[in-house]
Amino acid sequence: METTYLRWYESALKVINYVVQGSPRGKDFSEVVLAGMGGSGIVCDVIYTLLYDRSEIPVTVVKDFKPPSWVSSKTLVCGISYSGNTLETLNVVMKSLDLGAEVCVVSSGGKLVEIAKSRNVPHLIVDGGLLPRVAFPQLLIATIKVLDIYGIKLVDGFDKLLEVLNFKDLTIDVSKKLADFLKDSIPVIISNFRYYPLALRFKDELNENSKMMAKVEVIPEWAHNDIVGWEKLVDRNIIKALIIWDEDPIIEFAVDYLNESEVGVYILKLLGNDLLSKILYGSQIAGLTSTYLAEFRGIKADETKSIDRYKAFLRVKRSYLETII
Ligand code: PA5
Repeated sequence: METTYLRWYESALKVINYVVQGSPRGKDFSEVVLAGMGGSGIVCDVIYTLLYDRSEIPVTVVKDFKPPSWVSSKTLVCGISYSGNTLETLNVVMKSLDLGAEVCVVSSGGKLVEIAKSRNVPHLIVDGGLLPRVAFPQLLIATIKVLDIYGIKLVDGFDKLLEVLNFKDLTIDVSKKLADFLKDSIPVIISNFRYYPLALRFKDELNENSKMMAKVEVIPEWAHNDIVGWEKLVDRNIIKALIIWDEDPIIEFAVDYLNESEVGVYILKLLGNDLLSKILYGSQIAGLTSTYLAEFRGIKADETKSIDRYKAFLRVKRSYLETII
């Protein structure tokens, strides 16, 4: 997996030239829904964050089986699933089509691509054969390209954006140090709202690749509840704070506060010229760190037996689920 994370620059560059198939029905929408789970769903969180300060219409992320009740012919729904077979995402896409929404799709294949082709909806197919979480930059760029055909512009150009994935030696070095810091701990990843998708991505990577528990705390909400939990920790050696650095006085406050709590604190400073390149760089660090932690722990980073078990359960219960969702 280390090699695949280190090849993100090359694989992301490739997707820039992929072409969106199908044409949009129109470009005039009242709201946008981004639907996806896990390693595909994180793309929704990143896009949501990018649009937060610039979209004139509401944007919602759905990580469930149902689209929101207000979805209509005025809604653009973008379904993202690497495998194309994730039941939650498929259901949101199917129900949104039934509600008359404009739907677009990003996937490597599966049922999602079958639906996209048979319903003639815009779709971009990325290369298959990877684990969804490792295909993050491909899925992200593909989604940015699909949204672009609707007039939703998220980047000025890809080449400059992706340069940040090419500092391989530095990235390996930072990730090894971070893995060493986080080993044998329950990490608490703290970010401000802008970097929430990266904090979540970090947690997800530690969960899936390193088989570790981790939690995410977002500033300023952190300062209204979780902050109190650090006053009397059960075990100061197990809980470690990973802070996603941003020039933000409340992040500085959090660093001072946690240092006073006498817990291990690691401040992750991000390379990049803008929010998206910093998130990409941080995500590569998260991928590598979680892979090195898996090595430390003597476990296979690429195996996620429990997710497979859940998906098998969903397949068996599908007819039952259809009656309740
Ligand atoms: O990274 C993973 O393997 C998971 O989090 C998957 O992304 C998640 O189960 C959803 O599957 P998919 O991305 O194929 O829709």
